[in-house]
Amino acid sequence: MKQDLIVILDLGSAQNTVLARQIRSIGVYSEIHPHDITAKELKDFENVKGIILNGGENRMVNGQAVNIRPEIYELGYPIISIDYPQSKCETKFEQIPDQEALKKFVFEECQAQANWNMKNFIEDQVALIRQQVGDKKVLLALSGGVDSSVVAAMLIKAVGQQLVCVHVNHGLMRKNESESVVKVFRDELHANLIYVDASERFLGKLENISDPEQKRKIIGSEFIRVFEEEAKKLEGIDFLGQGTIYPDIIESGTKTAKMVKSHHNVGGLPEDLKFQLVEPLKQLFKDEVRACGVELGLPHDMVYRQPFPGPGLGVRCLGAITRERLEAVRESDAILREEFAKAGLDKKVWQYFTVVPDFKSVGMKNNARVFEYMVIVRAINTIDAMTASIEKVDWDVLEKITKRILAEVENVNRVCYDMSPKPPATIEFE
Ligand code: XMP
Repeated sequence: MKQDLIVILDLGSAQNTVLARQIRSIGVYSEIHPHDITAKELKDFENVKGIILNGGENRMVNGQAVNIRPEIYELGYPIISIDYPQSKCETKFEQIPDQEALKKFVFEECQAQANWNMKNFIEDQVALIRQQVGDKKVLLALSGGVDSSVVAAMLIKAVGQQLVCVHVNHGLMRKNESESVVKVFRDELHANLIYVDASERFLGKLENISDPEQKRKIIGSEFIRVFEEEAKKLEGIDFLGQGTIYPDIIESGTKTAKMVKSHHNVGGLPEDLKFQLVEPLKQLFKDEVRACGVELGLPHDMVYRQPFPGPGLGVRCLGAITRERLEAVRESDAILREEFAKAGLDKKVWQYFTVVPDFKSVGMKNNARVFEYMVIVRAINTIDAMTASIEKVDWDVLEKITKRILAEVENVNRVCYDMSPKPPATIEFE
């Protein structure tokens, strides 16, 4: 089933994604395309029901006045223009454009059907994946993050045992994280899962490396190497599954979008691994990816987990990584997550974690002087991770977390709370 489509043409608006999400929220599928799309490209979509011209002030893109190709008007689709004055860009999205006017356009003028929902989406994608993959095999790097987990669940539904998942444990995962990937995907969803415990290899490579950028580079390149070694052991793989999502595409795809952050999924894979990509989530926003995961039967914790950097706890064990400090980060992180969940803060706070610096301070335990590490707790709220404010965590919750960390985590005698917003601090420490 092809779902009805409302096309948003980007004429320099900063609100394209807001509008696309708003249309999807009333049950109609919407995509954003550049202002200079051709009539043929539009017609090739087959299911276009209407077009919205979405302009910023004076319809400027990169300093140039733009318009759509005149031939688009001759296609006969209903077309409206929304040109937001820049001063209104901060307006909450329920107010722009007027919800009733939008519904009237979508349902009355365009006669679109409200048939955009996760059930239909999954059904469509399963059919498309089967058509693309045939009887060939698909390889997927399954990190356990939201996107790769949802892709895995989708591919299992579509092609079952033709999917080979590789989970690389780089030794920098949170407590029980790799175990839970194996439990959910191998034991419950019966995926063909290769589990690679590369902890020793990663920790060896990272020994005595204290520069944050170098640490990140080593973790990234070592990950690709391990994955590549596993891929080479396998026969007859033609496809590579990727957790690309819609923001990854529109951030580089439309004419006005600024490059925010380079996204590397399994990017950087060597060219001689000639895979075709399977990217079943590439039309979804993050919250839709989560809804898709729930619909596919993944556990709530896996689908609603907070963001976790690719280099894992490696960037939270500051300076040169040692086993004892890595353990302190892992154990304190587990305590923090447990206590935040008990206090209901896990649903309210965007990201929260612990960090262990590479210096010690003096303290007292059992009437004797100790010289041990400290744990820093950080809890932030943000919309897009570009700026962030700190969460004013209830004092009693902080006290409880502190008590537990001091009692349960070895080699730690001090707990601090990070009060710094972003900027000038970043969210992570390295
Ligand atoms: P910063 O520290 O730059 O972090 O303020 C912004 C957000 O990005 C996450 N982060 C990463 N995510 N790979 C990722 O997928 C990475 O290498 C990475 N580094 C930071 C960070 O946790 C925060 O949510």
